[in-house]
Amino acid sequence: MHILKGKQIEALKGINLHLNMGEAIGLMGKSGSGKSTLMKCIYRTYLPTSGHIYYYPDNNGRLDIVSADEHAILKIRREDITYCSQFLQVIPRIPAIEVVTSKLTAKGEDADKAVSLTQEYFKRLNLVEELWDAYPSTFSGGEQQRINIAQAIIARPRILLVDEPTASLDPATKDSVIDMILELKAKGTSVVCITHDFYTLNKLSDRVFRMESRDFVSKDQIKLESH
Ligand SMILES: Nc1ncnc2c1ncn2[C@@H]1O[C@H](COP(=O)(O)OP(=O)(O)O)[C@@H](O)[C@H]1O
Ligand SMILES: [Mg+2]
Repeated sequence: MHILKGKQIEALKGINLHLNMGEAIGLMGKSGSGKSTLMKCIYRTYLPTSGHIYYYPDNNGRLDIVSADEHAILKIRREDITYCSQFLQVIPRIPAIEVVTSKLTAKGEDADKAVSLTQEYFKRLNLVEELWDAYPSTFSGGEQQRINIAQAIIARPRILLVDEPTASLDPATKDSVIDMILELKAKGTSVVCITHDFYTLNKLSDRVFRMESRDFVSKDQIKLESH
């Protein structure tokens, strides 16, 4: 529920879905159907007015993301769940490379190793070398998006949340992004991906959740309907 100028807006209601380990689901639905809101609830950027979001950490037990304390949320954001927003939230005057390496060093990775891994990712994402030390606030939309993706995937999260990750990318870079996410998935990462792009959806997701009908459909079903 969002409050806008004193008015309550019901952004999302009656959602029930399950994400398995190592599974990738696509989230589809028309603009305004609540896709980003759902993803932000999972990351706890938004706090739902009711309901539960159960996360099962590696070391057993169950955490309700809706009611967990801030400390627990910060810990799982640092270690387990990463989020790649549609828009990069740039911190001024932090170079691109540092935005990404910090995600590794925060997890205890050696600084030199973090830099070399980040450089490898930037190369795969076709980000020109001149930009590596520059500030992302001046980057183009597609360049910012690549920084955003790199920072979300570099530390190999258990759950990756990506909101339209390939929207403003050229076909070759789009393929790189898809491949990099698939590599994570092969190592056990679960993925939630919002996309309007059938190509990305088809390559990346095992199942597709449709916001309109509130249920899962197969990729074949989506393909049939898009023709
Ligand atoms: N922070 C917010 N404040 C007020 N309304 C919001 C906020 N975030 C989302 N909404 C509203 O909630 C609804 C769902 O938005 P959103 O989740 O962004 O949809 P989608 O990602 O499917 O396009 C929309 O009506 C949107 O305007
Ligand atoms: Mg959205």
